[in-house]
Amino acid sequence: MGRRQIFAGNWKMFKTYNEAVELAKGLSAGLNKAGGREYVLFPPSVYLKDLSSLCAATPFVTGAQNMYFENQGAFTGEISPVMVKDCGAGFVLIGHSERRHIFHETDENVNRKVITALFHNIQPMICVGELIEEREKGETSAVLNRQIRGAFSGIEKEAVSTISIAYEPVWAIGTGKVATPEMAEDAHIVIRKIIHELYGDEVSNSIPILYGGSVKPDNIEGLYKMPDIDGVLVGGASLEVKSFLDIINVNFNKSSS
Ligand code: PGA
Repeated sequence: MGRRQIFAGNWKMFKTYNEAVELAKGLSAGLNKAGGREYVLFPPSVYLKDLSSLCAATPFVTGAQNMYFENQGAFTGEISPVMVKDCGAGFVLIGHSERRHIFHETDENVNRKVITALFHNIQPMICVGELIEEREKGETSAVLNRQIRGAFSGIEKEAVSTISIAYEPVWAIGTGKVATPEMAEDAHIVIRKIIHELYGDEVSNSIPILYGGSVKPDNIEGLYKMPDIDGVLVGGASLEVKSFLDIINVNFNKSSS
């Protein structure tokens, strides 16, 4: 069925400039380039321009970890979609759980950012996921419904082809508590069903849905083998050359499965 397969590393607020350059060089030197995979690095935005230049000759593309939804203005500390583009980034993470929970981003903020990214031809990777309390109360589907419907509000079917979704249960991010492949697959099916309700067969069959949350070399294979998991968004394990290569070089080919 040929969905896009995306392997992404979110470096969060880690690395000095020299360390970031070394990491990118080490990754491009060790990549196996399995057929049809896409690779995205989300470095801190101050390194975005240099990392984009460095990655230009490699299979990696860059993305911003966040951006504001205005093109310019008196918004101290923010970066705009125009700047993201200007730095050579192709993607932007929108609504990462750390943005939602530490910086109080709402579903409405997320929606405005998605619309802005699409307008500027930056591919939005929308992050969604429930808190542990929400999962324990059986609210996972309700949370995913609210987040997905909020993020896609007012966006026409014709506009969604460059959007990807990352399902990242908040309780699994940076905690070492990974969702089992079955739990992740169940949530991906819920997300695909919501997308189906919004946009129908074609979009729901083709939209890439990535899993994120304590993805490591020893759990990637089990997760990636699940039929609705179209790649991964990796935090901690993307900060070292070896662990990220062991993930992105995982020896399982979706397109031939
Ligand atoms: P983690 O982070 O892999 O360190 O759990 C994932 C993310 O926040 O995208």
